[in-house]
Amino acid sequence: MQADVVVDLQYGDCGKGKVTHHLCRTQNYTHVVRYNGGCNAGHTIYHNGKKFITHHIPAGVFFGVKSVIGPGCVINPDQFFKEIKELNDGGINTDGLIFIAKNTHIITEKHKKQDSEDTTIGTTRSGNGPAYRDKYSRDGIRASAIPALKDYMIDMYEELHSGKRTNILFEGAQGFGLDIDWGDYPYVTSSHCTSGAALLNGVPPQAIKKVWGVAKMYETYVGAKKFEPDNEIFSLIRNLGQEYGATTGRPRQCNWMNWDLVDKAININGVTDLVFNKVDILDQVGRYKLYHKGELIKFENCEQMKDWINEAVATRFVNVYFSGDKDRI
Ligand code: IMO
Ligand code: MG
Repeated sequence: MQADVVVDLQYGDCGKGKVTHHLCRTQNYTHVVRYNGGCNAGHTIYHNGKKFITHHIPAGVFFGVKSVIGPGCVINPDQFFKEIKELNDGGINTDGLIFIAKNTHIITEKHKKQDSEDTTIGTTRSGNGPAYRDKYSRDGIRASAIPALKDYMIDMYEELHSGKRTNILFEGAQGFGLDIDWGDYPYVTSSHCTSGAALLNGVPPQAIKKVWGVAKMYETYVGAKKFEPDNEIFSLIRNLGQEYGATTGRPRQCNWMNWDLVDKAININGVTDLVFNKVDILDQVGRYKLYHKGELIKFENCEQMKDWINEAVATRFVNVYFSGDKDRI
């Protein structure tokens, strides 16, 4: 068994969909597994020139690879069926490709209602937090108890430990800055968003080969805390980068990259391959800045900023890729 992990190093929305889609296209995975979060996630994927936004279903489905919603996730059955329909309407065959782990927990209408009353965190109101709360208070409902989901059930142990060759891609949701433990509590999500969380879905630690860390050349955050400095340059970045939530449509607050956060996330996740997306947006804005140890560092041009980043990770033997919206990685 071997596995790669895709993990977001900032506050979500760094382009995990793009990276997982690229890896599914170029690697021979037997399974793609979502390992945390629920339909709070919104992964934007361009497939054969068409735009798709997935919330629950991992990107393997675009390439005929078994796509599994793992037990680290919570799932809303209505949203799940809606998403299958959207994929089918977009010409994607899902027959026999989509599975849900038996021990995944369910997001109910009650959870959604409770979450819709949130005024402090700025949640996606998808019922995510209340579903995890009930799971951990041992008052939740597992997917195996829902008759409508019967045809999608999978036992992760039987599936992954059957003696057959498995090559898994773990597709993370949310990001390091939103992690329940490492994020800026309480402005966090309710699941674990690090590579460690992938292991909780039934694979041994030794199986993990590559950890793809995904970041953006600037930062975005959606939620209740003030994040964006008062400067109209960030409105420009938001518009050029189309920084509006894939799940809720909310404008994302923008800021320069905080290298200290990315650095910490590289170390804690054990990143082996590092992707910086949205390089072209900074190029269009013509400003190149990042925070390092609380100070704002300015660069003359993109090459200088890339050199600085390459230098900062040099001793960690990480492969670094810079990617614009129109590029393939
Ligand atoms: P992807 O996978 C960006 C944010 C919400 C809120 C906080 C808690 O697309 O990167 P929740 O609904 O999880 O209880 O909300 O987390 N949030 C995300 N922000 N991308 C996401 O997912 C997010 N999922 C949750 O905006 O601040
Ligand atoms: Mg998103």
